[in-house]
Amino acid sequence: MCRELMQQNIEKAQCEIDSKKDIVKKGKMRQRYHFMAQTGWLNDPNGLIYFRGKYHFFFQYNPYSAFWDNMYWGHAMSDDMLHWEYLPLALAPSETYDDYQRGGCFSGSAIEHDGKLFLMYTGATNEGNGSKQTHCIAYSEDGIHFEKYEGNPVITAPEGIPGDLFRDPKVWKHEDLFYMVCGASRDNKGQALLYRSKDLFHWTFFNVLAESRGEWGYMWECPDFYPLGDKYVLTFSPMSAGEHTSVYFVGDFDYETGKFICHSCDEIDWGFDFYAPQSFETPEGRRIMVGWSNEWEWMPLWKDWGPTFKEDWCGFFNIPREVRLTEEGKLQFLPIAEVETMRENEKKLETFEVTEEESAWKVGDGVSYELKLKIDLQKTDAEKLELDLRCGEDKKTICMFDFKKAEMSVDRNDADGWSKGVSRSAMNLKDKTELDVHVLSDQSSLEIFTGQYQNCHSNNIFAGNAQNQVKIRAHGGRVYLKDVEMYGLK
Ligand code: FRU
Repeated sequence: MCRELMQQNIEKAQCEIDSKKDIVKKGKMRQRYHFMAQTGWLNDPNGLIYFRGKYHFFFQYNPYSAFWDNMYWGHAMSDDMLHWEYLPLALAPSETYDDYQRGGCFSGSAIEHDGKLFLMYTGATNEGNGSKQTHCIAYSEDGIHFEKYEGNPVITAPEGIPGDLFRDPKVWKHEDLFYMVCGASRDNKGQALLYRSKDLFHWTFFNVLAESRGEWGYMWECPDFYPLGDKYVLTFSPMSAGEHTSVYFVGDFDYETGKFICHSCDEIDWGFDFYAPQSFETPEGRRIMVGWSNEWEWMPLWKDWGPTFKEDWCGFFNIPREVRLTEEGKLQFLPIAEVETMRENEKKLETFEVTEEESAWKVGDGVSYELKLKIDLQKTDAEKLELDLRCGEDKKTICMFDFKKAEMSVDRNDADGWSKGVSRSAMNLKDKTELDVHVLSDQSSLEIFTGQYQNCHSNNIFAGNAQNQVKIRAHGGRVYLKDVEMYGLK
């Protein structure tokens, strides 16, 4: 029964996708190398895993329209996390615990066990008292076709946690036990709850892994927890802690007590479009994190999510990033090395002197490209470096490095006639002799990494192909660049 109804719903949705996908493909704002769904609405990355020799990404998905609604799990497979083969949808709403308007199969994660692929996800329903979220299991022999566990749900919200604020299980195995961290809210404060299980089906509450003291919002969405070097990392996306944002904590964890002591914390990304990241480990031991390039800031407009919405799709994933730990206990987020395999039309400048007079560069085709450079802080005497990206006749996104204020900003008020806002972050220039800058541009996004990949800004911009120039100039002096590398990305 479980299997049949879900299968029917998957097939129905699949027909919807097939009827639209060829038109959607032609959309002018479609990304060239970032992961997107074929049609419709995508949000969180779910169930990221390397399984039987391939990368599998699942995603929160509404196949029926380009805004958020009933949630399915989309599924795609890849050899390099850049080129994707779409697979049949993995999960569709079909049961009392996961089928209701604006409910469905919410976020969760994947784990391999006994040669099978298990998904642990949030069933979101409404039993007459508002939304109710529980944790559920589905499994698959072939990693493509899933069946929901008959004993679902396997976990319900504990006392004191509102039923509509209990979601997003992230599961892993340590020695003989399975562990799971999920997002919750208690007394209006965000929490990450830790559970344990011997078999993936029977779970017991273990500890509150971490919680907001009020500064980090009323609910923590999509927590993730993993070892990195000799530390543990907790990431989550707090609700109502300013703009939609995602945060990391680095600390020590004890499996005996379930205690996590946090030593440092920071924003993962200062841009407007990075949310609900999830991570996984590759066979060679890289920790890869993928975020959703959200457009939550348009929420008040609800049914106008922007230029891609008009092309019948919305949402993509930021470029997958490798997470590394520095000696000071901070995290670095590097675009995956696989990006280098897309490089073409290389141009290099050993040094470049930026004056107050503007210089214009064409990098690759000016739309899909990578730009890397270093600012020589010892020689530079200017107050600011202005890097204008995706410039057209009267449009541009202004990336400003203000050395005096030690602030970096990305201003998209003139980016495309639609996007708005300035993302800002402090730059750590103390005792530094150079500042590294790495830009990834795609049709609808700019990802800018600086400060040894500790200071990241991901912003969506919806610029046409005529916006294809990079312009650069100094304010109040000269800026000296070195090791400038430019590549088209194909
Ligand atoms: C985060 C989130 C999750 C939830 C899912 C529903 O963007 O709200 O907490 O499981 O999206 O689509």
